[in-house]
Amino acid sequence: MPVISGEFRGLYAKSGVRSHLGFLAVAAILALVEPTSAADTSDVKPLRLCADPTNLPYSSDDASKPGFYLEVGQAIGKALGRPVAYNWYRTYFGKRSVRVTLLGRQCDAMIGLPLSDDFMGPTVIFSRKISTQTYALVAAKGKAISSVEDLKGSRVAVQYQTTPQNLLALRDDIEKVTVLSTEEGMRALDLGTADVAFVWGPAAGWLNKTQYENRYKIQTVEGKGLSWDAAIGFARTSKELRDQVDAVLPGLEQKIVDLATKYGLPDDQPITLYGSENTPNLLTPRKAATAAVPTVSSLSVNIASTEREPDAVNSASVNAGKEVFNATCAHCHGTDAVQGERRIDLRRLQLRYGENARATFWTTVHEGRLSKGMPAWKEVLTDYVLNDIYAYLLTLQTSAGSTD
Ligand code: HEC
Repeated sequence: MPVISGEFRGLYAKSGVRSHLGFLAVAAILALVEPTSAADTSDVKPLRLCADPTNLPYSSDDASKPGFYLEVGQAIGKALGRPVAYNWYRTYFGKRSVRVTLLGRQCDAMIGLPLSDDFMGPTVIFSRKISTQTYALVAAKGKAISSVEDLKGSRVAVQYQTTPQNLLALRDDIEKVTVLSTEEGMRALDLGTADVAFVWGPAAGWLNKTQYENRYKIQTVEGKGLSWDAAIGFARTSKELRDQVDAVLPGLEQKIVDLATKYGLPDDQPITLYGSENTPNLLTPRKAATAAVPTVSSLSVNIASTEREPDAVNSASVNAGKEVFNATCAHCHGTDAVQGERRIDLRRLQLRYGENARATFWTTVHEGRLSKGMPAWKEVLTDYVLNDIYAYLLTLQTSAGSTD
């Protein structure tokens, strides 16, 4: 994922510089319907896609280059005989925007989410995979790179808070040049301040094609935290639509390959940096709990600290909170928070902490109580989601009993 400022980001994050935090707060949604030739009768409901208007190579509101995901969406609309409408969501494309747009019913599908049951628990269901996307080593064409050893002695541009940065952190024989985006990594190559850029492959491919006359060789790299399958996400209740889309996808396979080429997405054979055995622990994301979610640190998570604490408590919040709670917290705290062990009975928060209940909740879920077995969630769930959980827990508080 637009899904946001690290760079796996490519899947559902901004692919570029603009993925930065200040930007996240700006959300503007406008819809426009673009009829396709297949269906212009008004009784056919448009297929509404949520998309970021400024996230090439994935999506754009420039009709001359709509982006890989949007063109895949157009092809699907055509195959289903439905016009395509867009809900432009001008913000980072992480879990939060999925919540607001897809689960908020502002669109029917979101193309390019990471295909993972862990992405948002059971609230989001997926189509078949539409593509695999990876980080890549970008360098001048003559430079052969087939393993991490080939990077020895080189200056390698790595993006702040991404898997490549973590991977190379312990290699003293490789000089790291920290950059904030794939664009910046490519520019470092161009300016000669780096020999290799270890950056998000699709964004690098697009830039190579559109700005650097394909001057660079792009070697994709697979491995934990380096590659993801992208699919189309739907709200759980849209199973029928998901099945329809799954039925037409096989027929669009070649079309999707052609579109990937059109947008410069790399299609080479990926290498593994360390071979299949002995993958160092380095490859393990920093936090086990986030393993299946692409660089969570760069995803939804960082926005938490920069955004005001959400305050809306409404039924949508409560329902969403219940869903996430049961998917994420229930195996320790009990389904629907029903829990016999008082110490972890979250229906007793108000009784136990009174007016400090909310503050205690935030501190505990953000930081965890690691020594006692309560994980920290601030890098996993956004404050919006945590707020939903809190809203849900508020509906369950008991008023009777002792405060121990
Ligand atoms: C791996 C098990 C585990 C998971 C998963 C877990 N917790 Fe906890 N949680 C604990 C334990 C154990 C404690 C008690 C720590 C203590 O005694 O101080 C706790 C304590 C808490 C408390 C403080 C309770 C109090 O009365 O002081 C809150 C709030 C809380 N958890 C919320 C959550 C939320 C929300 C989630 C899901 C996002 C979650 N927990 C997921 C194990 C877990």
